[in-house]
Amino acid sequence: MSLIIVVYLTKQTVVGMFLHFLLVLLTVLTVVVLVQAQDPYAGFISLDCGLPKDSRYSDISTHINYISDAKFIDTGESKKLAEENDIKQQLQYVRSFPIGMRNCYRINVASGTKYLIRASFYYGNYDNLNKPPEFDLHFGPNVWDTVKFASLSHITDSEIIYTPSLDYIQPCLVNTGKGTPFISAIELRPLNNTAYITYSPKSVLSLFNRYYLGSTADKEYRYKDDVYDRIWFPFKLSSGWAKLSSSLNSDDLHQNEYKPPAIVMSTAVTPVNDSAPLQFHWEADNVNDQYYTYLHFNEVEELAANETRAFNITENDHLPYGPVIPEYRVVNTIYDEIPYTGTKMYQITISKTEDSTLPPILNAFEIYKVKNFSQSETDRDDVDTIINIKNTYGVARNWQGDPCAPVNYMWEGLNCSLDGNNIPRITSLNLSSSGLTGEISSSISKLSMLQYLDLSNNSLSGPLPDFLTQLRSLKTLNLGKNNLNLTGSVSSGLLERSKQDGLLLILDQNPNICEPGSCNQKISDRKKSNKIVPLVASVAGIFVLLVLVSGAAIICALIKKRKPQDGNSQVQSDTPNDSQLESKQRQYTYDDVVKITNNFNRVLGKGGFGTVYHGLIDDTEVAVKMLSKSSVHGFEQFLAEVKLLMRVHHKNLTSLIGYCNEGKDIGLIYEYMANGNLDELLSGKNSKGKFLTWADRLGIAVDAAQGLEYLHNGCKPPIIHRDVKSTNILLNESFQAKLADFGLSKNFPSDGGTHLSTVVAGTPGYLDYEYMTSNRLTEKSDVYSFGVVLLEIITSQPAITKSPDKTHISQWVRSMFYNGDIKNIVDSRLQQDFDTNSAWKAVDIGMACVSTNSSDRPNMSEVMNGLKECLAEELARKKVGRCKSKKEDPIELVPLNLDIELGPQAR
Ligand SMILES: *[C@@H]1O[C@H](CO)[C@@H](O)[C@H](O)[C@H]1NC(C)=O
Ligand SMILES: *[C@@H]1O[C@H](CO)[C@@H](O)[C@H](O)[C@H]1NC(C)=O
Ligand SMILES: *[C@@H]1O[C@H](CO)[C@@H](O)[C@H](O)[C@H]1NC(C)=O
Repeated sequence: MSLIIVVYLTKQTVVGMFLHFLLVLLTVLTVVVLVQAQDPYAGFISLDCGLPKDSRYSDISTHINYISDAKFIDTGESKKLAEENDIKQQLQYVRSFPIGMRNCYRINVASGTKYLIRASFYYGNYDNLNKPPEFDLHFGPNVWDTVKFASLSHITDSEIIYTPSLDYIQPCLVNTGKGTPFISAIELRPLNNTAYITYSPKSVLSLFNRYYLGSTADKEYRYKDDVYDRIWFPFKLSSGWAKLSSSLNSDDLHQNEYKPPAIVMSTAVTPVNDSAPLQFHWEADNVNDQYYTYLHFNEVEELAANETRAFNITENDHLPYGPVIPEYRVVNTIYDEIPYTGTKMYQITISKTEDSTLPPILNAFEIYKVKNFSQSETDRDDVDTIINIKNTYGVARNWQGDPCAPVNYMWEGLNCSLDGNNIPRITSLNLSSSGLTGEISSSISKLSMLQYLDLSNNSLSGPLPDFLTQLRSLKTLNLGKNNLNLTGSVSSGLLERSKQDGLLLILDQNPNICEPGSCNQKISDRKKSNKIVPLVASVAGIFVLLVLVSGAAIICALIKKRKPQDGNSQVQSDTPNDSQLESKQRQYTYDDVVKITNNFNRVLGKGGFGTVYHGLIDDTEVAVKMLSKSSVHGFEQFLAEVKLLMRVHHKNLTSLIGYCNEGKDIGLIYEYMANGNLDELLSGKNSKGKFLTWADRLGIAVDAAQGLEYLHNGCKPPIIHRDVKSTNILLNESFQAKLADFGLSKNFPSDGGTHLSTVVAGTPGYLDYEYMTSNRLTEKSDVYSFGVVLLEIITSQPAITKSPDKTHISQWVRSMFYNGDIKNIVDSRLQQDFDTNSAWKAVDIGMACVSTNSSDRPNMSEVMNGLKECLAEELARKKVGRCKSKKEDPIELVPLNLDIELGPQAR
């Protein structure tokens, strides 16, 4: 129709119509944009699982928009429940998973945002088997829940509060052999980040119960009553309880960060007998379960002048918390910072104080059980790369969810480094006999920890790429049986790797591959030519190239991606020529050292292994450490390491600038650190009298953690410091902390610890017991020592008390930590000017680091990230403090480490 009309229109009218159309389009767009901007569900993600692709609807009662889940998962089948099921719209379809052990969604989220995540399941006999299944629910690499049904029409929800660290989450349904998994709905609701805080980043809250009390309505409340769409169920009135209620508009209710709905807070229960307590209890499956409760209070009655309502709250027979005095139309939420644990029966008792004239009340409560999501997600770059490879080759395998974990569900053909503590990395990729075609994808070279790569028995074509030489850890490369398709010569880089590093290169049954220099013939000549030596064409199939052990080389920064704008990116190149050049430039004669130090004029200190002098190279201040050769074990090895360490550069490591090796003297030249060491600073011996605020302390802890993390994860092979202690953490003129003396301490007898075996290097108080007894040194020994330093930073106490009983700092902190006594742990000179959550987290990290078993200790990446969170919380608090009352806190918030106010008068 419209086509025919256009034919008869003049040019002008067409233009006119076009303009008109544009105008209409613009108006429509504006309306759409306006509607979206006002969308009250901003951030809500609501998937109706199994709903036909691209369908959407607005829920009748909540008006929340639900969309089909089809875009978020590749597998599963959509099933519709029988018509007679008179049930909420989200439950009318399910996605069912008859195929595959583990089927996963991938849902994009805002990383760092705290979400309430709810998965709902309603069987409703959708498969006509009259047999509800039982299956597991995973959350990425962690086990979330087991889904069971009490009856055909039982609706069950699994709900957690979780802050994703990546910008996606992967809920998975796992077949455990008890029926076909399915799912009805997935809902994500962003929460206030400051509510529902747990003591450890790996603790996830999983909903146990959520009730409101004192209402006769047998009704559940959720959105829009609840802005976060939590679902509140009515709690059955116990005998001995009476109802209190008032009408309450949400505008009249003064909220806190938990925002319980006004309708829920408008009613409460109170004991009939004025002097009796309010009590409720629950039973745990396991004594080791941990629970958090959140009790929400709001005074529903306007009290007369002579009336008071005050009460104490007690969990089991612990010390009561109180008095709590609920205010009229003000939400007050009470929770314990440490979870309840250690028993099977928990009882909360709310009892009135002696001078209260009115009995206690309770409006609503929530109970959460702690789930430990301790398994880290696989390295983000590895995940992106392997998904890229999957898509490039159309790999037809059930590759879903986290590639590495849980270990039983590791992707077929992969293997990973999985020790439960470090971020998993892909170490092995076997795509043998997978019908791969096309060229060898350059993505593969991004799997930087790959040790084993098998692409044999495919139809890969094109040249043998040189980028495979970038895989520094590769031990086996199997490209055999890609008949006729792979061409060209083996790159000299690969040949070099196989000669130098013992790379096992398997290239059998690839007649078109030749050695470098012998590839000049035309392709047509090749098959006939005798001159072409196929590298490997053995009868049995496998032929092995040279295996030569090469010297170890420390390669830092190559495996760490850094953004170009990052100041740290100017890491020098790693080519052998370069480093030789550097070594020469950085070697000084004894005469040079005499000049640099002005004849050893100014002593800066006596360190573990020698005396340190002040010096000047051109106009740059340096610190020169002089040692005698006799004090060094294994001198040649020491010297080799010194040369390597000169190539390690990080903003939180003191740089080794040069060295001198003449006669019996060795001099090590370091960058100068104007503000001495952390020990002096904490004990008040620092000449400038700088007092460290809580933010300063966290800043220093983050700095030191970053330095150590770099040694462990940014260097290959990892460098173990062996002697992390507060005297080895130095501060420059802007109080930026840097680790000193890394990687060398093994060459020296331990510092004053004559009672220790001389083999075990380190300093008493900082030494990991496991290392002392087993003599097996790992990164986790450094983590232990770092934990001791962190506790020193928090408490300003020495690692071992000076008192005769010589208590270790970890014991001293432990007793108070378990009593919840944070105020006495943190340095009293701070006068409690710190964010409590931030302090809890920091102490928790410190205590985890000093765990007796090294496997219970976190790795340095986790420590570093945890401390960064602590610092962010403290900085956020300071910002809030400033807004509330500008007079109180005159100090400008400055970025990390730049707080250079001197002297205690600054506070
Ligand atoms: C993966 O690697 C580990 C450790 O090297 C090894 O024990 C395990 O057998 C490997 N698994 C597979 C499926 O190859
Ligand atoms: C790699 O996969 C192929 C085919 O699936 C299998 O035959 C071979 O044993 C695997 N190699 C290793 C080391 O697991
Ligand atoms: C090579 O792969 C094909 C399928 O692509 C398979 O049938 C054959 O068994 C494989 N050969 C070997 C030696 O693994």
